[in-house]
Amino acid sequence: MQEFDLTMELTDDGSATLFIPQLNEHYHSVKGALTESNHIYRDCAFLHRCSTMTTNEDILPYRLLEIGFGTGLNACVTAMVATESCPVHYISLEKYPVDNQVLECLHYESLVDATLWKAIHDAPWGEATHITPYFVIEKRVADYLVDPLPDGIDVVYFDAFAPEKQPEMWTSDAFRRLVSVMNHNALLTTYCAKGEIRRLLTVLGLKVERIAGPIGGKREILRATLS
Ligand SMILES: C[S@@+](CC[C@H](N)C(=O)[O-])C[C@H]1O[C@@H](n2cnc3c(N)ncnc32)[C@H](O)[C@@H]1O
Repeated sequence: MQEFDLTMELTDDGSATLFIPQLNEHYHSVKGALTESNHIYRDCAFLHRCSTMTTNEDILPYRLLEIGFGTGLNACVTAMVATESCPVHYISLEKYPVDNQVLECLHYESLVDATLWKAIHDAPWGEATHITPYFVIEKRVADYLVDPLPDGIDVVYFDAFAPEKQPEMWTSDAFRRLVSVMNHNALLTTYCAKGEIRRLLTVLGLKVERIAGPIGGKREILRATLS
Protein backbone atom coordinates (compact mmCIF):
# COMPACT_ATOMS: atom_id res chain seq x y z
CA MET A 1 0.00 0.00 0.00
CA GLN A 2 2.78 2.44 0.85
CA GLU A 3 3.89 4.57 -2.09
CA PHE A 4 7.28 5.61 -0.81
CA ASP A 5 10.56 3.87 -0.07
CA LEU A 6 11.08 3.82 3.67
CA THR A 7 14.25 3.50 5.69
CA MET A 8 14.65 3.24 9.44
CA GLU A 9 16.61 5.74 11.55
CA LEU A 10 17.35 6.00 15.24
CA THR A 11 16.32 9.25 16.92
CA ASP A 12 18.05 10.98 19.84
CA ASP A 13 16.00 9.29 22.58
CA GLY A 14 16.91 5.84 21.24
CA SER A 15 13.53 5.18 19.60
CA ALA A 16 13.43 4.57 15.86
CA THR A 17 11.50 6.37 13.16
CA LEU A 18 10.87 6.00 9.44
CA PHE A 19 12.44 8.22 6.80
CA ILE A 20 11.20 8.85 3.24
CA PRO A 21 14.17 9.69 1.02
CA GLN A 22 11.97 11.01 -1.86
CA LEU A 23 10.41 13.61 0.47
CA ASN A 24 13.42 14.01 2.73
CA GLU A 25 10.95 13.68 5.60
CA HIS A 26 10.74 11.67 8.84
CA TYR A 27 7.64 10.24 10.50
CA HIS A 28 8.71 11.70 13.86
CA SER A 29 11.11 14.23 15.30
CA VAL A 30 14.73 13.17 14.93
CA LYS A 31 15.19 14.54 18.47
CA GLY A 32 13.09 11.68 19.83
CA ALA A 33 10.18 9.79 18.29
CA LEU A 34 8.76 8.37 21.51
CA THR A 35 9.39 11.61 23.41
CA GLU A 36 7.44 13.51 20.74
CA SER A 37 4.46 11.14 20.79
CA ASN A 38 4.30 11.18 24.59
CA HIS A 39 4.57 14.93 24.95
CA ILE A 40 2.80 16.55 21.99
CA TYR A 41 -0.04 14.12 21.56
CA ARG A 42 -0.56 11.95 24.67
CA ASP A 43 0.21 14.60 27.32
CA CYS A 44 -0.59 17.97 25.72
CA ALA A 45 -3.72 16.78 23.90
CA PHE A 46 -5.37 13.64 25.27
CA LEU A 47 -4.37 13.83 28.93
CA HIS A 48 -4.86 17.59 28.93
CA ARG A 49 -8.41 17.14 27.63
CA CYS A 50 -9.03 14.50 30.32
CA SER A 51 -7.75 16.87 33.01
CA THR A 52 -10.08 19.67 31.86
CA MET A 53 -13.15 17.42 31.61
CA THR A 54 -16.42 19.20 32.34
CA THR A 55 -18.47 16.39 33.83
CA ASN A 56 -21.85 17.92 33.11
CA GLU A 57 -21.04 18.57 29.45
CA ASP A 58 -18.65 15.93 28.18
CA ILE A 59 -19.88 12.75 26.55
CA LEU A 60 -17.53 9.82 27.08
CA PRO A 61 -15.67 8.12 25.51
CA TYR A 62 -13.89 11.07 23.98
CA ARG A 63 -13.69 10.91 20.21
CA LEU A 64 -10.12 11.47 19.08
CA LEU A 65 -9.14 11.99 15.44
CA GLU A 66 -5.57 11.45 14.31
CA ILE A 67 -4.40 12.75 10.96
CA GLY A 68 -1.72 10.27 9.89
CA PHE A 69 -1.69 6.87 11.65
CA GLY A 70 1.85 6.21 10.36
CA THR A 71 3.57 3.72 12.65
CA GLY A 72 0.77 3.71 15.24
CA LEU A 73 3.07 5.05 17.95
CA ASN A 74 0.72 7.88 18.97
CA ALA A 75 -2.14 5.41 19.13
CA CYS A 76 -0.20 3.00 21.34
CA VAL A 77 1.00 5.57 23.86
CA THR A 78 -2.58 6.83 24.12
CA ALA A 79 -4.00 3.33 24.62
CA MET A 80 -1.56 2.91 27.52
CA VAL A 81 -3.11 5.82 29.47
CA ALA A 82 -6.81 5.50 28.57
CA THR A 83 -8.76 4.70 31.74
CA GLU A 84 -12.28 4.14 33.00
CA SER A 85 -12.50 7.82 33.91
CA CYS A 86 -11.09 8.90 30.54
CA PRO A 87 -11.90 6.36 27.82
CA VAL A 88 -11.33 7.10 24.15
CA HIS A 89 -12.60 6.13 20.72
CA TYR A 90 -9.51 6.70 18.58
CA ILE A 91 -10.10 7.24 14.86
CA SER A 92 -6.97 7.43 12.76
CA LEU A 93 -6.80 8.29 9.07
CA GLU A 94 -3.99 7.00 6.91
CA LYS A 95 -3.64 7.25 3.15
CA TYR A 96 -0.58 5.01 2.87
CA PRO A 97 -0.60 2.27 5.55
CA VAL A 98 2.88 1.02 6.38
CA ASP A 99 3.54 -2.69 5.85
CA ASN A 100 3.79 -4.75 9.05
CA GLN A 101 7.25 -6.01 7.99
CA VAL A 102 8.50 -2.43 8.00
CA LEU A 103 6.87 -1.75 11.38
CA GLU A 104 8.60 -4.76 12.91
CA CYS A 105 12.01 -3.19 12.12
CA LEU A 106 11.18 -0.33 14.52
CA HIS A 107 11.08 -2.66 17.57
CA TYR A 108 8.59 -0.43 19.35
CA GLU A 109 7.34 -3.44 21.31
CA SER A 110 10.40 -3.00 23.56
CA LEU A 111 9.47 0.64 24.31
CA VAL A 112 5.70 0.50 24.69
CA ASP A 113 3.20 -2.07 25.95
CA ALA A 114 3.95 -4.93 23.55
CA THR A 115 0.50 -6.50 23.92
CA LEU A 116 -1.28 -3.26 23.06
CA TRP A 117 1.14 -2.59 20.22
CA LYS A 118 0.36 -5.96 18.66
CA ALA A 119 -3.38 -5.62 19.20
CA ILE A 120 -3.46 -2.19 17.57
CA HIS A 121 -1.64 -3.48 14.51
CA ASP A 122 -3.66 -6.68 14.32
CA ALA A 123 -6.91 -4.68 14.45
CA PRO A 124 -8.56 -4.69 11.02
CA TRP A 125 -8.71 -1.48 9.01
CA GLY A 126 -12.18 0.00 8.62
CA GLU A 127 -13.67 -1.44 11.84
CA ALA A 128 -13.92 -0.19 15.40
CA THR A 129 -12.01 -2.65 17.62
CA HIS A 130 -11.78 -2.77 21.42
CA ILE A 131 -8.10 -2.94 22.40
CA THR A 132 -8.83 -2.46 26.13
CA PRO A 133 -12.16 -1.72 27.88
CA TYR A 134 -11.22 1.97 27.63
CA PHE A 135 -9.58 2.19 24.21
CA VAL A 136 -11.31 1.53 20.89
CA ILE A 137 -9.33 1.96 17.68
CA GLU A 138 -10.80 2.65 14.27
CA LYS A 139 -8.06 2.76 11.65
CA ARG A 140 -9.35 4.09 8.36
CA VAL A 141 -7.54 3.92 5.04
CA ALA A 142 -8.60 7.37 3.92
CA ASP A 143 -7.41 10.54 2.31
CA TYR A 144 -7.81 13.33 4.84
CA LEU A 145 -8.26 15.86 2.05
CA VAL A 146 -11.17 14.25 0.23
CA ASP A 147 -12.80 11.49 2.27
CA PRO A 148 -15.59 12.23 4.77
CA LEU A 149 -14.32 13.08 8.26
CA PRO A 150 -15.88 11.56 11.39
CA ASP A 151 -17.84 14.12 13.39
CA GLY A 152 -18.22 14.91 17.09
CA ILE A 153 -14.45 15.10 17.64
CA ASP A 154 -13.07 16.15 21.05
CA VAL A 155 -9.32 15.82 20.43
CA VAL A 156 -7.28 16.09 17.22
CA TYR A 157 -3.74 14.81 16.82
CA PHE A 158 -2.65 16.76 13.75
CA ASP A 159 0.42 14.75 12.74
CA ALA A 160 0.74 15.35 9.01
CA PHE A 161 4.09 15.66 7.26
CA ALA A 162 5.55 19.15 7.52
CA PRO A 163 3.95 22.10 5.66
CA GLU A 164 7.05 22.43 3.46
CA LYS A 165 6.69 18.79 2.38
CA GLN A 166 2.90 18.47 2.12
CA PRO A 167 1.47 22.01 1.99
CA GLU A 168 -1.96 20.78 0.86
CA MET A 169 -2.53 19.26 4.33
CA TRP A 170 -2.14 22.67 6.03
CA THR A 171 -4.43 24.94 3.99
CA SER A 172 -7.23 27.10 5.31
CA ASP A 173 -9.83 25.02 3.40
CA ALA A 174 -8.53 21.75 4.85
CA PHE A 175 -8.53 23.18 8.40
CA ARG A 176 -12.03 24.62 7.91
CA ARG A 177 -13.34 21.14 7.10
CA LEU A 178 -11.51 19.74 10.14
CA VAL A 179 -12.87 22.41 12.48
CA SER A 180 -16.40 21.69 11.22
CA VAL A 181 -16.27 18.21 12.81
CA MET A 182 -14.84 19.38 16.16
CA ASN A 183 -17.04 19.71 19.25
CA HIS A 184 -17.25 22.74 21.50
CA ASN A 185 -14.09 22.67 23.72
CA ALA A 186 -12.31 20.30 21.34
CA LEU A 187 -8.58 20.74 21.14
CA LEU A 188 -5.92 20.09 18.56
CA THR A 189 -2.17 19.74 19.00
CA THR A 190 0.57 19.69 16.43
CA TYR A 191 4.35 19.95 16.38
CA CYS A 192 4.25 22.89 13.95
CA ALA A 193 4.02 26.27 15.72
CA LYS A 194 4.64 28.45 12.66
CA GLY A 195 2.94 31.87 12.68
CA GLU A 196 1.16 31.11 9.42
CA ILE A 197 -0.52 28.02 10.88
CA ARG A 198 -1.38 29.82 14.11
CA ARG A 199 -3.06 32.59 12.12
CA LEU A 200 -5.07 30.14 9.98
CA LEU A 201 -6.45 28.45 13.09
CA THR A 202 -7.15 31.75 14.87
CA VAL A 203 -9.19 32.98 11.88
CA LEU A 204 -11.22 29.77 12.08
CA GLY A 205 -12.22 30.58 15.67
CA LEU A 206 -9.71 28.59 17.70
CA LYS A 207 -7.83 29.91 20.69
CA VAL A 208 -4.22 29.13 19.85
CA GLU A 209 -1.47 28.71 22.43
CA ARG A 210 2.23 28.12 21.96
CA ILE A 211 3.32 25.67 24.62
CA ALA A 212 6.68 24.15 25.52
CA GLY A 213 7.86 21.40 23.21
CA PRO A 214 9.30 18.03 24.21
CA ILE A 215 12.55 17.89 26.17
CA GLY A 216 15.43 18.04 23.69
CA GLY A 217 13.07 18.81 20.81
CA LYS A 218 11.26 21.84 19.41
CA ARG A 219 11.12 24.84 21.71
CA GLU A 220 7.41 25.40 21.07
CA ILE A 221 4.47 23.40 19.82
CA LEU A 222 0.90 24.40 19.21
CA ARG A 223 -2.35 23.69 21.04
CA ALA A 224 -5.60 25.12 19.68
CA THR A 225 -8.99 25.00 21.41
CA LEU A 226 -12.38 25.54 19.82
CA SER A 227 -14.52 27.65 22.13
C1 LIG B 1 4.21 12.39 10.39
S1 LIG B 1 3.56 10.90 9.79
C2 LIG B 1 2.47 10.37 11.10
C3 LIG B 1 3.17 9.64 12.23
C4 LIG B 1 2.21 8.87 13.08
N1 LIG B 1 1.24 9.69 13.75
C5 LIG B 1 2.89 7.91 14.05
O1 LIG B 1 2.52 7.88 15.26
O2 LIG B 1 3.75 7.18 13.60
C6 LIG B 1 2.35 11.51 8.60
C7 LIG B 1 1.42 10.44 8.09
O3 LIG B 1 0.40 11.06 7.27
C8 LIG B 1 0.09 10.17 6.23
N2 LIG B 1 -0.60 10.91 5.14
C9 LIG B 1 -0.03 11.63 4.14
N3 LIG B 1 -0.99 12.18 3.37
C10 LIG B 1 -2.18 11.80 3.89
C11 LIG B 1 -3.54 12.05 3.53
N4 LIG B 1 -3.87 12.83 2.48
N5 LIG B 1 -4.52 11.49 4.26
C12 LIG B 1 -4.21 10.69 5.34
N6 LIG B 1 -2.93 10.43 5.73
C13 LIG B 1 -1.93 10.98 5.02
C14 LIG B 1 1.46 9.62 5.84
O4 LIG B 1 1.35 8.44 5.07
C15 LIG B 1 2.09 9.41 7.21
O5 LIG B 1 1.82 8.13 7.71
